[in-house]
Amino acid sequence: MTSLHVAPKGEFVFETSQIASDKSISHRCAIFSLLSDKPSIVRNFLNAEDTLCTLSISESLGATVEKNGDTLVITPPKELKEPACILDCGNSGTAIRLLMGFLSSLDGFYVLHGDKYLASRPMKRVANPLREIGALIDGRDEGELAPISVRGSKLEPFNYDSPIASAQVKSALILAGLRGKGVSTLSEPTLSRDHTEKMLRGMGVDIVSSGTKVTLTPTQEPLKPLDITVPNDPSSGFFFAVAAAITPNSKVTLKNMLLNPTRVEAYKVLQRMGTKVEFIEKENTYDSVGDIVVEYAPLKGVVVEDNIAWLIDELPALSIAFACASGKSLVKNAKELRVKESDRISSVVENLKKCGLHVDEFEDGYEVTGGEFKSARVDSYGDHRVAMSFAIAGLKVPMQVTDTECIQTSFPNFNELLSKLGNVTNGD
Ligand code: S3P
Repeated sequence: MTSLHVAPKGEFVFETSQIASDKSISHRCAIFSLLSDKPSIVRNFLNAEDTLCTLSISESLGATVEKNGDTLVITPPKELKEPACILDCGNSGTAIRLLMGFLSSLDGFYVLHGDKYLASRPMKRVANPLREIGALIDGRDEGELAPISVRGSKLEPFNYDSPIASAQVKSALILAGLRGKGVSTLSEPTLSRDHTEKMLRGMGVDIVSSGTKVTLTPTQEPLKPLDITVPNDPSSGFFFAVAAAITPNSKVTLKNMLLNPTRVEAYKVLQRMGTKVEFIEKENTYDSVGDIVVEYAPLKGVVVEDNIAWLIDELPALSIAFACASGKSLVKNAKELRVKESDRISSVVENLKKCGLHVDEFEDGYEVTGGEFKSARVDSYGDHRVAMSFAIAGLKVPMQVTDTECIQTSFPNFNELLSKLGNVTNGD
């Protein structure tokens, strides 16, 4: 089991275009390229464990993938193939849930599985609405837990009122409705990330978004192929934003970042806490892309209770900023944090307590009282975002984070970038 030791090196001014490519968009590139009959061109695909799993699933379904430097050419097969192997989704909830929707209307039999963390995450949120429209899905605990089996079948159109704001649930249903017999609609309690809608629209799908409702008119025609440069991932970049926000006289410039509003909310929370944040849009093809500049200013506590779906991946890193702020910060309405790569409420609370901070835990959130970090040995709980968040806390006081292999799932060059700001060593 590897662990990471991080110690402060002092103030920094840091500019990078090397933040990992967007994970959500990369997964979708690997899956959506199967919806066309022509090769898709994908530049800057995320070369990390999670998204490479999805890419090899596309290959198991018959696609061929050619790599030319930074560019992937993904050629779909004439007809998708029934794979002889289990489809390994690794650690990725996005992969398994989107594929459940995608495969449920395709002829054939498929088994989806993943690592021990993924195998304990809830799948009925996708399996049940899919079963209601005729999908043949099973799994452990009546389809709640992987391994999940899917036998493709004819699906009915749907009007689904999702109880959860989840892009994974929304996307699974959209993919299932794509080849259906009629118009489908889906609404969610608040808007979740909208990459599926935007990318499919770009590929020629008649999909209309109005607030939190999506209306989808199916098409039997193959879609236009993708021709896309994946921007850098604002959720990965956010660790470096927090680094600047907690280190006096420091500044980071993150280049070529995705600026989609459903993805940059955490930077706006930092802004509310006092940090100077600037978004500079440079282009807008599939989505808004540009630079984010983050500069230190003293932090004050904040209440976070809205737009939780837009913060779900960033709350562990935000918690490091909460701990460095004056006063208390409160997170509410965030029960979804409990079913992520780890139970992110208890992972963050336990680790902050080990760092000597005062934290109160609730069923749907937590309250952090700002204070002084003390050196500690904390655990990632197998969750890449928890691992990287506490590595950033190492820019305040020396920190050891154990079980850090999980960083490879989303941000393989994280340690290399962090070593520009702090002293970083790998140990056991
Ligand atoms: C993702 C959606 C989010 C997020 C995950 C990626 C996606 O999950 O936490 O890291 O790519 O659709 P939910 O939509 O289930 O909240």
